[in-house]
Amino acid sequence: MILEIINKKRRNEELTKEEMKEIVMGYVEGKVPDYQMSSFLMAIAIHGLSKEETLQLTDIMLHSGDVVDLSKIEGTIVDKHSTGGVGDKTTIALVPLVAACGVKVAKMSGRGLGHTGGTIDKLESIPGFRTEVSEKDFIDQVNRIGCAVVGQTGNLVPADKKMYALRDVSGTVESIPLIASSIMSKKLASGADKIVIDVKVGDGALMKDVKSAKQLAKLMVWIGKEYNKEVRCVLTSMEQPLGLAIGNGLEVLEAIDFLQGNGPEDFKELTMHFATTMVSMGKGISMKKARKLVEEKLISGEAYLKLVEMVEAQGGKLDEIPVSKRVFSVQSSKGGIVSDIKTEKIGEIVRSIGGGRIELHDKIDPSVGIVMTKKEGDLVMEQEELLKVYLNQKDLKIQSVLDCFEIGDHLQKPRPLIITTIK
Ligand code: URA
Repeated sequence: MILEIINKKRRNEELTKEEMKEIVMGYVEGKVPDYQMSSFLMAIAIHGLSKEETLQLTDIMLHSGDVVDLSKIEGTIVDKHSTGGVGDKTTIALVPLVAACGVKVAKMSGRGLGHTGGTIDKLESIPGFRTEVSEKDFIDQVNRIGCAVVGQTGNLVPADKKMYALRDVSGTVESIPLIASSIMSKKLASGADKIVIDVKVGDGALMKDVKSAKQLAKLMVWIGKEYNKEVRCVLTSMEQPLGLAIGNGLEVLEAIDFLQGNGPEDFKELTMHFATTMVSMGKGISMKKARKLVEEKLISGEAYLKLVEMVEAQGGKLDEIPVSKRVFSVQSSKGGIVSDIKTEKIGEIVRSIGGGRIELHDKIDPSVGIVMTKKEGDLVMEQEELLKVYLNQKDLKIQSVLDCFEIGDHLQKPRPLIITTIK
């Protein structure tokens, strides 16, 4: 009985695979209602799951729908995933860059979760861009132009599709076994040969400290090994938003800017690192050789042209990305050095003005967001701009934005962006 399974987890007892399957598949089939599933997810978020239970949950989710067969695509397929951050538009810049280097990228991405954004929501800010593509069209496009980014096709991991959306609105996002099984079930079902995962750490990430990020990384690498897949996790800092733009349309514009040879340093560093890692794994060459190739393809403009080709192939119009015209400049009430940015709060603000969902069926406003003027370590004068807010329908208390900044009187040691790799 479902209630008995929920009670068992509430008492922190180990579940059998059959019990886990009964509730997860019952939910997928519509027999278990949202309120019972959220209660089950909350019990997991509080007590956790054992390693074995996490592997079993991953397996149930992975087989809850179709599994993609990418064998019709030639060459090694390397997939990339991020545990989610604020301003993380890396995938949008990285996919065409890696494809321009000759490594095929067949990428299935997700939507926003909690205060973090999702690649599919971002790409849907491009008018006309299709994220729902059949498996055949997806594979054809990768064979034809070298890359595609789509939402989970049709019936791929329907368990995660439903549970992910429910977790987003039931306070059950931040749980290591739920994150590991969600990511790994999707990555294993998407058929890639090798997987690179950006495990974000810090205030703006789901993992707030390096210890828990390492725990998540090790768990995902172990799950990968159980399926004979090479998984590489790179821990990266999310103590402040990545780049300057936060909000769907604004982030796509920043990714385009990067591919045109510009863009903020931190975003560049991260994108180049992940592109290099993927090219190195995909071609079986050293990181040094891969980095040289990635730099060449960025500088030559081939990576940008690949993005244009991909967007056209998926029906999008790159020059029609909406940006709200209602812009507010938020200025500092005092002078000093920006010593801390409350990144999760920034993500929540963007979510609250329409950049993310608060309720299950909310529609996202692609034109809203924030563009940072100042980042950690920057000097700011009294009355100088800290950031711009792009608002549309909703209103915002300026004080809540000011509260995201700590202005101090000394420079802090810069925190490294790339922390460590676990494989
Ligand atoms: N990304 C996912 O795909 N799933 C999670 O649970 C968290 C981040």
